[in-house]
Amino acid sequence: MMVDLLVRNVHTPYHSDPVDIAVNNTRVEQVASRIETPARRTVEGQRRLAIPPFVDAHFHLDSVLTRVPNLSGTLREGIDNWARYKQDNLSVEDVYDRARRYCEHAFAMGIQAIRSHVDVCDPQLRGAEALTRLKRDIADRIDIQLVAFPQDGFFSAPQVRQQLLKALDMGVDVVGGIPHNEPMYQQGTESLHELMQIAAERGLLVDIHCDESDDPNSRHVETLAALTARSGMGGRVTASHITATAVMDAYYVSRKLIPMMAGAGINVICNPLINIHLGGHFSYPKHRAMAPIRELLAAGLTVGCAQDCNEDPWYPLGNADMLEVARMGAHIGHMMGLDALRTMFDTVTTLPATIMQLPDYGLEPGCRANLVLVGAESVIDALRISAPREVVIRHGHVVIESGAPRTDSA
Ligand code: FE2
Repeated sequence: MMVDLLVRNVHTPYHSDPVDIAVNNTRVEQVASRIETPARRTVEGQRRLAIPPFVDAHFHLDSVLTRVPNLSGTLREGIDNWARYKQDNLSVEDVYDRARRYCEHAFAMGIQAIRSHVDVCDPQLRGAEALTRLKRDIADRIDIQLVAFPQDGFFSAPQVRQQLLKALDMGVDVVGGIPHNEPMYQQGTESLHELMQIAAERGLLVDIHCDESDDPNSRHVETLAALTARSGMGGRVTASHITATAVMDAYYVSRKLIPMMAGAGINVICNPLINIHLGGHFSYPKHRAMAPIRELLAAGLTVGCAQDCNEDPWYPLGNADMLEVARMGAHIGHMMGLDALRTMFDTVTTLPATIMQLPDYGLEPGCRANLVLVGAESVIDALRISAPREVVIRHGHVVIESGAPRTDSA
């Protein structure tokens, strides 16, 4: 039988020896040490590493590439500068063009799924309009999942609730929130009750910017875990950032909070590059402003690492490099053992794919034939050198091949 594509002689994160991968009808057909089936197209892997595509489960496509200078380098100035940008510069075309440019680059960097928050505090919902259109237009490259995100606070203005609901009606997929940025602490708690209710009524996933602060007394993640357990929405609710856990009481975090989160089945997304940069500004000695990834994983939680920002009001750097994200997470989280490094690779591939509930993700037979060949022989080497993405395959088609001499057509 003739198959559409044969990728020969590749290492993968999941096999001890090199394998061949046969693809037919946009799906992985077979993975074996040697496949003799004729193929319409063959890619010679030359023992490079074939991986399922990177998954960036926390990003902000509406502010990407705005390149607004942040003079103090703080979260507060970022939020203020973004508010000004929204007022003065934002248009549907502006958001669409920047987000599209970034997505094209992200695709070349091996990313094929992005969960992007979109600010719904804009009364005209320009970001939601642009990104729901982009989601359709770029589906042949990247799976985009959008989160209705009330950046200024669910209770920051009376109309935000309606705008959030309207964004969901427009095709935004996930319910977002930001309890620590509500005007009063109590409103943060109330916002979680309301947002979880909206998600339950509509059958949607939830992803909350939660306790993204240096406040040791913030307890919104505890509330979110309790509401997740009560509603039976385990696996469908994600707490993003939770950087306050780094300064909370150690007994509370280890003996109460993490077991409670594990019991509820809540997911966590850390953003190592942004967390370490924006957190800890106001204290000395400095703490590591990132969730305890090692302890969360050990407790059985599904934990992803994500990029969050790229050349926007919060972060002047970024290159859609999920290997850089995982590497930074490994440093901050004491995840440098060999098994721990392999797990860090999972935090930018399989684990966020689970969080986003991507269907048929992976390299097994039956999975969607989305894969990337990187210029390394192992996951650890790929992490070490931020290995170049040399071949990008989407739905069984070779879309990018920068390692041209290594490929041929049958
Ligand atoms: Fe974020």
